[in-house]
Amino acid sequence: MLPRRTKSIAGATDFAIMVSLNPMGELLFAHMSIISLKNVSKIYRTAVGESLAALDNVNLEVEKGEFVAVVGESGSGKTTLLNMIGGLDQPTEGSVLVDGHNITSAGDKELSRFRNRSIGFIFQSFHLQPLQTATANVMVPLLFTETTWSEARKKAEASLGLVGLSDKVNQRVNQLSAGQCQRVAIARAIVNNPRILLADEPTGNLDVRTGTEIINQLKQINTNHSATILLVTHEEDVAAQARRIITIQAGRIVSDAALGAGSNEDRQ
Ligand SMILES: Nc1ncnc2c1ncn2[C@@H]1O[C@H](COP(=O)(O)OP(=O)(O)OP(=O)(O)O)[C@@H](O)[C@H]1O
Ligand SMILES: [Mg+2]
Repeated sequence: MLPRRTKSIAGATDFAIMVSLNPMGELLFAHMSIISLKNVSKIYRTAVGESLAALDNVNLEVEKGEFVAVVGESGSGKTTLLNMIGGLDQPTEGSVLVDGHNITSAGDKELSRFRNRSIGFIFQSFHLQPLQTATANVMVPLLFTETTWSEARKKAEASLGLVGLSDKVNQRVNQLSAGQCQRVAIARAIVNNPRILLADEPTGNLDVRTGTEIINQLKQINTNHSATILLVTHEEDVAAQARRIITIQAGRIVSDAALGAGSNEDRQ
Protein backbone atom coordinates (compact mmCIF):
# COMPACT_ATOMS: atom_id res chain seq x y z
CA MET A 1 0.00 0.00 0.00
CA LEU A 2 1.26 3.45 -0.85
CA PRO A 3 2.21 5.67 2.05
CA ARG A 4 0.53 9.06 2.02
CA ARG A 5 3.75 10.89 1.37
CA THR A 6 6.89 9.45 -0.07
CA LYS A 7 10.05 11.18 -0.97
CA SER A 8 13.31 10.00 -2.53
CA ILE A 9 16.53 10.56 -0.69
CA ALA A 10 19.81 10.41 -2.52
CA GLY A 11 21.64 7.30 -1.38
CA ALA A 12 25.37 6.75 -1.32
CA THR A 13 24.62 3.32 -2.80
CA ASP A 14 22.94 2.36 -6.06
CA PHE A 15 19.72 1.54 -4.23
CA ALA A 16 16.83 3.95 -4.38
CA ILE A 17 15.54 4.56 -0.87
CA MET A 18 12.05 5.91 -0.27
CA VAL A 19 11.07 7.32 3.09
CA SER A 20 7.51 7.58 4.31
CA LEU A 21 6.57 10.62 6.35
CA ASN A 22 3.56 11.28 8.53
CA PRO A 23 1.67 14.59 8.16
CA MET A 24 4.11 16.19 10.66
CA GLY A 25 6.99 15.32 8.38
CA GLU A 26 8.31 12.67 10.77
CA LEU A 27 9.93 9.51 9.44
CA LEU A 28 7.56 6.50 9.55
CA PHE A 29 9.65 3.91 7.71
CA ALA A 30 12.11 3.64 4.88
CA HIS A 31 11.83 1.13 2.06
CA MET A 32 13.70 0.44 -1.11
CA SER A 33 12.40 0.51 -4.64
CA ILE A 34 13.55 -2.44 -6.71
CA ILE A 35 13.13 -0.25 -9.81
CA SER A 36 13.88 3.46 -9.82
CA LEU A 37 13.91 5.71 -12.88
CA LYS A 38 14.79 9.37 -12.46
CA ASN A 39 14.28 11.88 -15.26
CA VAL A 40 14.83 9.21 -17.89
CA SER A 41 14.77 10.16 -21.55
CA LYS A 42 15.59 8.01 -24.53
CA ILE A 43 16.16 9.88 -27.73
CA TYR A 44 16.33 7.99 -31.02
CA ARG A 45 17.47 9.44 -34.29
CA THR A 46 14.97 8.68 -37.04
CA ALA A 47 15.82 7.64 -40.60
CA VAL A 48 15.34 11.25 -41.75
CA GLY A 49 17.76 12.55 -39.11
CA GLU A 50 15.20 13.94 -36.65
CA SER A 51 15.27 13.31 -32.89
CA LEU A 52 12.45 11.28 -31.39
CA ALA A 53 11.92 11.04 -27.63
CA ALA A 54 10.71 7.45 -27.10
CA LEU A 55 10.84 8.27 -23.36
CA ASP A 56 10.56 11.84 -22.19
CA ASN A 57 11.61 12.66 -18.62
CA VAL A 58 10.12 9.55 -17.00
CA ASN A 59 10.15 9.12 -13.22
CA LEU A 60 9.06 5.78 -11.81
CA GLU A 61 9.46 3.86 -8.55
CA VAL A 62 8.40 0.22 -8.27
CA GLU A 63 8.63 -1.69 -5.03
CA LYS A 64 9.54 -5.33 -4.62
CA GLY A 65 6.57 -7.63 -5.24
CA GLU A 66 4.42 -5.16 -7.17
CA PHE A 67 2.41 -6.29 -10.21
CA VAL A 68 2.27 -3.33 -12.59
CA ALA A 69 0.50 -3.11 -15.95
CA VAL A 70 1.90 -0.68 -18.52
CA VAL A 71 -0.59 0.54 -21.12
CA GLY A 72 -0.55 3.10 -23.90
CA GLU A 73 -0.96 3.52 -27.64
CA SER A 74 1.31 1.85 -30.15
CA GLY A 75 4.59 3.80 -30.32
CA SER A 76 4.10 5.47 -26.92
CA GLY A 77 7.30 4.00 -25.44
CA LYS A 78 6.20 0.89 -23.51
CA THR A 79 8.79 -1.49 -24.95
CA THR A 80 11.47 1.18 -24.66
CA LEU A 81 10.60 1.47 -20.95
CA LEU A 82 10.90 -2.30 -20.41
CA ASN A 83 14.18 -2.35 -22.36
CA MET A 84 15.64 0.31 -20.04
CA ILE A 85 14.55 -1.58 -16.93
CA GLY A 86 15.83 -4.88 -18.31
CA GLY A 87 19.20 -3.44 -19.24
CA LEU A 88 18.68 -4.14 -22.94
CA ASP A 89 19.22 -0.46 -23.65
CA GLN A 90 20.54 2.56 -21.79
CA PRO A 91 18.95 5.99 -21.42
CA THR A 92 20.13 9.09 -23.23
CA GLU A 93 19.53 11.09 -20.04
CA GLY A 94 18.60 10.32 -16.44
CA SER A 95 19.31 7.37 -14.18
CA VAL A 96 17.97 3.82 -14.07
CA LEU A 97 18.58 1.75 -10.92
CA VAL A 98 17.28 -1.81 -10.90
CA ASP A 99 17.83 -4.40 -8.18
CA GLY A 100 20.93 -2.57 -6.98
CA HIS A 101 22.45 -2.10 -10.43
CA ASN A 102 23.04 1.24 -12.04
CA ILE A 103 21.95 0.47 -15.61
CA THR A 104 22.97 3.93 -16.75
CA SER A 105 26.65 3.41 -16.05
CA ALA A 106 27.03 -0.38 -16.25
CA GLY A 107 29.31 -1.88 -18.87
CA ASP A 108 28.28 -4.70 -21.24
CA LYS A 109 29.59 -7.45 -18.97
CA GLU A 110 27.76 -6.19 -15.87
CA LEU A 111 24.60 -5.67 -17.92
CA SER A 112 24.55 -9.21 -19.24
CA ARG A 113 25.18 -10.64 -15.74
CA PHE A 114 22.41 -8.42 -14.40
CA ARG A 115 19.99 -9.53 -17.13
CA ASN A 116 20.78 -13.17 -16.51
CA ARG A 117 20.44 -13.01 -12.73
CA SER A 118 17.81 -10.41 -12.00
CA ILE A 119 15.48 -10.33 -15.00
CA GLY A 120 13.15 -12.75 -16.75
CA PHE A 121 11.88 -11.60 -20.14
CA ILE A 122 8.62 -12.77 -21.72
CA PHE A 123 7.79 -11.57 -25.24
CA GLN A 124 4.67 -11.54 -27.39
CA SER A 125 6.22 -13.88 -29.95
CA PHE A 126 7.81 -16.25 -27.39
CA HIS A 127 11.39 -16.15 -28.87
CA LEU A 128 11.81 -19.92 -28.49
CA GLN A 129 13.90 -22.36 -30.53
CA PRO A 130 11.16 -24.27 -32.42
CA LEU A 131 13.16 -27.43 -33.11
CA GLN A 132 14.36 -27.82 -29.52
CA THR A 133 12.37 -29.49 -26.74
CA ALA A 134 10.56 -27.48 -24.09
CA THR A 135 13.21 -28.49 -21.56
CA ALA A 136 16.11 -27.46 -23.81
CA ASN A 137 14.52 -24.04 -24.30
CA VAL A 138 13.98 -23.52 -20.59
CA MET A 139 17.57 -24.58 -19.79
CA VAL A 140 19.08 -21.76 -21.89
CA PRO A 141 19.46 -19.08 -19.15
CA LEU A 142 21.12 -21.65 -16.87
CA LEU A 143 23.81 -22.41 -19.44
CA PHE A 144 25.31 -18.98 -18.67
CA THR A 145 25.62 -19.81 -14.97
CA GLU A 146 27.67 -22.28 -12.91
CA THR A 147 24.80 -24.80 -13.01
CA THR A 148 25.75 -28.28 -14.23
CA TRP A 149 23.90 -29.79 -17.19
CA SER A 150 21.96 -32.33 -15.10
CA GLU A 151 21.07 -29.71 -12.50
CA ALA A 152 19.93 -27.35 -15.29
CA ARG A 153 17.76 -30.12 -16.70
CA LYS A 154 16.17 -30.75 -13.31
CA LYS A 155 15.51 -27.06 -12.75
CA ALA A 156 14.04 -26.68 -16.25
CA GLU A 157 11.69 -29.60 -15.68
CA ALA A 158 10.64 -28.18 -12.30
CA SER A 159 10.00 -24.82 -13.92
CA LEU A 160 7.89 -26.45 -16.64
CA GLY A 161 5.98 -28.20 -13.86
CA LEU A 162 5.18 -24.84 -12.27
CA VAL A 163 3.48 -23.69 -15.47
CA GLY A 164 1.58 -26.98 -15.84
CA LEU A 165 3.66 -28.53 -18.62
CA SER A 166 5.14 -31.57 -16.85
CA ASP A 167 3.72 -33.78 -19.59
CA LYS A 168 5.42 -31.76 -22.38
CA VAL A 169 9.01 -31.60 -21.16
CA ASN A 170 10.36 -33.67 -24.06
CA GLN A 171 8.06 -32.23 -26.73
CA ARG A 172 9.57 -30.05 -29.42
CA VAL A 173 8.30 -26.50 -29.26
CA ASN A 174 7.02 -26.60 -32.86
CA GLN A 175 4.62 -29.31 -31.70
CA LEU A 176 3.09 -27.15 -28.96
CA SER A 177 0.10 -24.78 -29.07
CA ALA A 178 0.61 -21.02 -28.84
CA GLY A 179 -0.56 -20.97 -25.22
CA GLN A 180 1.79 -23.83 -24.35
CA CYS A 181 4.65 -21.98 -26.09
CA GLN A 182 4.00 -18.92 -23.97
CA ARG A 183 4.04 -21.10 -20.86
CA VAL A 184 7.41 -22.51 -21.96
CA ALA A 185 8.60 -18.91 -22.31
CA ILE A 186 7.37 -18.16 -18.78
CA ALA A 187 9.13 -21.28 -17.48
CA ARG A 188 12.33 -20.06 -19.16
CA ALA A 189 11.86 -16.58 -17.67
CA ILE A 190 11.48 -17.91 -14.11
CA VAL A 191 14.02 -20.76 -14.18
CA ASN A 192 16.72 -18.57 -12.61
CA ASN A 193 14.34 -17.25 -9.93
CA PRO A 194 14.68 -13.69 -11.19
CA ARG A 195 13.49 -10.93 -8.91
CA ILE A 196 11.85 -9.08 -11.80
CA LEU A 197 9.71 -10.34 -14.68
CA LEU A 198 9.25 -8.10 -17.72
CA ALA A 199 6.44 -9.24 -20.00
CA ASP A 200 5.86 -7.41 -23.28
CA GLU A 201 2.33 -8.19 -24.51
CA PRO A 202 2.56 -11.84 -23.46
CA THR A 203 -1.10 -12.46 -24.35
CA GLY A 204 -1.07 -10.54 -27.63
CA ASN A 205 -0.96 -13.71 -29.76
CA LEU A 206 -3.37 -15.75 -27.68
CA ASP A 207 -7.13 -16.21 -27.56
CA VAL A 208 -8.95 -14.77 -24.55
CA ARG A 209 -9.18 -18.03 -22.56
CA THR A 210 -5.52 -18.91 -23.07
CA GLY A 211 -4.52 -15.31 -22.35
CA THR A 212 -6.41 -15.49 -19.06
CA GLU A 213 -4.51 -18.68 -18.13
CA ILE A 214 -1.20 -16.95 -18.85
CA ILE A 215 -2.14 -13.96 -16.69
CA ASN A 216 -3.20 -16.32 -13.90
CA GLN A 217 0.22 -18.01 -14.11
CA LEU A 218 1.92 -14.63 -13.80
CA LYS A 219 -0.27 -13.71 -10.82
CA GLN A 220 0.71 -16.95 -9.10
CA ILE A 221 4.39 -16.30 -9.72
CA ASN A 222 3.92 -12.79 -8.34
CA THR A 223 2.22 -14.13 -5.20
CA ASN A 224 4.14 -17.33 -4.57
CA HIS A 225 7.63 -16.22 -5.58
CA SER A 226 7.39 -12.49 -4.72
CA ALA A 227 8.55 -11.65 -8.23
CA THR A 228 8.05 -8.03 -9.23
CA ILE A 229 6.16 -7.99 -12.53
CA LEU A 230 5.83 -5.32 -15.21
CA LEU A 231 3.34 -6.32 -17.86
CA VAL A 232 2.81 -4.40 -21.10
CA THR A 233 -0.63 -4.95 -22.58
CA HIS A 234 -3.13 -3.44 -24.99
CA GLU A 235 -6.00 -5.31 -23.39
CA GLU A 236 -8.00 -3.49 -20.70
CA ASP A 237 -9.19 -6.65 -18.98
CA VAL A 238 -5.60 -7.90 -18.75
CA ALA A 239 -4.41 -4.59 -17.29
CA ALA A 240 -7.24 -4.75 -14.75
CA GLN A 241 -5.64 -7.89 -13.28
CA ALA A 242 -2.67 -5.85 -12.07
CA ARG A 243 -2.54 -3.87 -8.83
CA ARG A 244 -1.23 -0.75 -10.48
CA ILE A 245 -1.68 0.64 -13.99
CA ILE A 246 0.77 3.04 -15.61
CA THR A 247 -0.34 4.80 -18.77
CA ILE A 248 2.26 6.10 -21.20
CA GLN A 249 1.57 8.67 -23.88
CA ALA A 250 4.21 10.00 -26.24
CA GLY A 251 7.03 8.85 -23.95
CA ARG A 252 5.56 10.29 -20.74
CA ILE A 253 3.77 8.67 -17.83
CA VAL A 254 0.40 10.42 -17.90
CA SER A 255 -1.30 8.37 -15.21
CA ASP A 256 -0.23 6.00 -12.46
CA ALA A 257 -3.12 4.43 -10.58
CA ALA A 258 -3.25 1.87 -7.78
CA LEU A 259 -6.07 -0.67 -8.11
CA GLY A 260 -7.63 -3.13 -5.71
CA ALA A 261 -9.37 -3.25 -2.38
CA GLY A 262 -9.83 0.17 -0.86
CA SER A 263 -7.30 1.82 -3.10
CA ASN A 264 -7.98 3.62 -6.31
CA GLU A 265 -5.87 6.70 -6.03
CA ASP A 266 -3.86 8.36 -8.74
CA ARG A 267 -0.20 8.61 -7.88
CA GLN A 268 0.55 11.67 -9.93
N1 LIG B 1 15.82 1.48 -32.30
C1 LIG B 1 15.00 2.50 -32.59
N2 LIG B 1 15.38 3.49 -33.45
C2 LIG B 1 14.57 4.54 -33.71
N3 LIG B 1 13.35 4.69 -33.19
C3 LIG B 1 12.90 3.73 -32.34
C4 LIG B 1 13.70 2.59 -32.01
N4 LIG B 1 12.99 1.82 -31.13
C5 LIG B 1 11.81 2.45 -30.94
N5 LIG B 1 11.76 3.59 -31.66
C6 LIG B 1 10.64 4.55 -31.69
O1 LIG B 1 10.35 4.90 -30.35
C7 LIG B 1 8.94 5.02 -30.14
C8 LIG B 1 8.52 4.11 -29.01
O2 LIG B 1 8.66 2.77 -29.44
P1 LIG B 1 8.23 1.54 -28.54
O3 LIG B 1 8.64 0.30 -29.25
O4 LIG B 1 8.74 1.74 -27.18
O5 LIG B 1 6.64 1.69 -28.54
P2 LIG B 1 5.53 0.75 -27.90
O6 LIG B 1 4.72 1.59 -26.97
O7 LIG B 1 6.15 -0.48 -27.34
O8 LIG B 1 4.63 0.40 -29.16
P3 LIG B 1 3.84 -0.97 -29.53
O9 LIG B 1 2.59 -0.97 -28.68
O10 LIG B 1 3.51 -0.80 -30.97
O11 LIG B 1 4.73 -2.14 -29.27
C9 LIG B 1 8.30 4.70 -31.48
O12 LIG B 1 8.00 5.91 -32.14
C10 LIG B 1 9.36 3.94 -32.23
O13 LIG B 1 9.24 4.12 -33.62
MG1 LIG C 1 6.08 -2.52 -27.86
